[in-house]
Amino acid sequence: MVVSPTNAPVDSLPETASKQDCLDVIAQQAAQCSQCDLHTGRTQSVFSDGNPEAPLMLIGEGPGQHEDESGIPFVGRAGQLLTQILASVDIDRKTDIYICNIVKCRPPQNRAPVPEEMARCFSFLEEQIRIVQPKYILLAGATAMKGVLGIKTGITKVRGQWFDTPYGNAKAMPIFHPSYLLRYGSKEKFTPKWFMWQDMKEVRQVLDELNSASNA
Ligand code: URA
Repeated sequence: MVVSPTNAPVDSLPETASKQDCLDVIAQQAAQCSQCDLHTGRTQSVFSDGNPEAPLMLIGEGPGQHEDESGIPFVGRAGQLLTQILASVDIDRKTDIYICNIVKCRPPQNRAPVPEEMARCFSFLEEQIRIVQPKYILLAGATAMKGVLGIKTGITKVRGQWFDTPYGNAKAMPIFHPSYLLRYGSKEKFTPKWFMWQDMKEVRQVLDELNSASNA
């Protein structure tokens, strides 16, 4: 059995504690975690970026070299592409989305995290989702999709679809990982970048609907 590394003292924070206050407690625990071997290679844990008050969350795979060095998710080449993709539908990565990863420490040689590492880190992610309470979750790549939804089919078959999650009313959509998109130049119809554009337009639409509903 995997022991929860968080041991959540968040519940003992005052009721007035903000989402950020609660997340800071969990981030501190992640920074000290040694539940799997990934901690031995980290410069620092990489917890999150963006706005925990946003209705949109993005979950990636795990930190790479630049993230390990900076402590911020998605700042390397793939991250810069992600920032541009989000901006193309008017989503600012600092204010309109909360960004994190399945595992908080860098896997060596940028390999995907193994199931044991994902399982040992999962309670941090579950705490993040529980605190942020996103309405919509984007799962960037197959690792995030498998970790959160347990879907093992190819991401090409399911990307762009909303799935129910065990997290309240939150819906989750698998999307291509930006590092996969870096391998393709073309934006022609039916190429990976074109599919990403379709998915982002869908995300923009649900966010606009959410805004209209809350302004009504
Ligand atoms: N890839 C990820 O999945 N996460 C990051 O933070 C950076 C690259």
